[in-house]
Amino acid sequence: MKVILLGPPGVGKGTAAKRMVQEYGIPQISTGDLLREAVKNQTELGLQAKQYMDAGKLVPDDLVIGLLKERVAKEDCRKGFILDGYPRTIPQAQSLGTSGIQIDVVVNLHADENVIVERLSGRRDCPKCGAIYHIKNKPPQHEGVCDACQGSLITREDQKEEVIQNRLQVYRKQTEPLIQYYNQKGLQKTINAVQSIDKVFSDIRIAIGRK
Ligand code: AP5
Repeated sequence: MKVILLGPPGVGKGTAAKRMVQEYGIPQISTGDLLREAVKNQTELGLQAKQYMDAGKLVPDDLVIGLLKERVAKEDCRKGFILDGYPRTIPQAQSLGTSGIQIDVVVNLHADENVIVERLSGRRDCPKCGAIYHIKNKPPQHEGVCDACQGSLITREDQKEEVIQNRLQVYRKQTEPLIQYYNQKGLQKTINAVQSIDKVFSDIRIAIGRK
């Protein structure tokens, strides 16, 4: 099963992908996570990517396409994978085709922008194990502490109000056209993301044909 999770920043792609990993045992490939890892390790790619990420812009296609190709070539992707945050541009989508990667379904998570801003500004991350929380919708048991690994939760640099607005603008211009792109290929299924995390997941299950 090869699935793309499409949708604006903060719509809940990462949250849904983590549930799919638990349920289906295939890896989540988040280009955002791969890039943040490169930044943390101060690789050449990470140093180049940081300035774009902090400003809420997209990292240039040539850098991201190479990173993604390397990741999907790994052994754990043989049975399939969930792409979370890739593709984000038409050239990135085309790169999947030219690499012979056949996508089964594209799940487009939809929410209005006011919901997205609320979700992004309340998001908290565990840098140690990758768990995602929300101060209102999915709070940890103890404020600022990860339930799973007791790591200290952080607010990402790109979750500041002005950067959020920039990310939304970038989404509208560069990523939203992918809905039409995949619609024309008959692969796109839109899901209402303004529902409980459980309900979003059960709708995804239906969309990917795994009732
Ligand atoms: P990336 O890390 O991919 O971030 P993003 O897609 O912008 O969005 P987020 O991860 O912030 O949100 P999400 O949709 O996963 O939502 P989440 O589950 O966290 O990218 C970061 C940066 O990297 C980009 O800006 C860019 O610079 C670069 N980049 C990455 N990929 C790239 C690419 N392909 N090309 C170029 N550049 C790239 O949910 C949000 C919050 O809502 C959480 O707190 C969660 O608990 C809560 N929540 C989730 N679902 C629900 C629900 N159903 N009800 C209530 N609350 C919910």
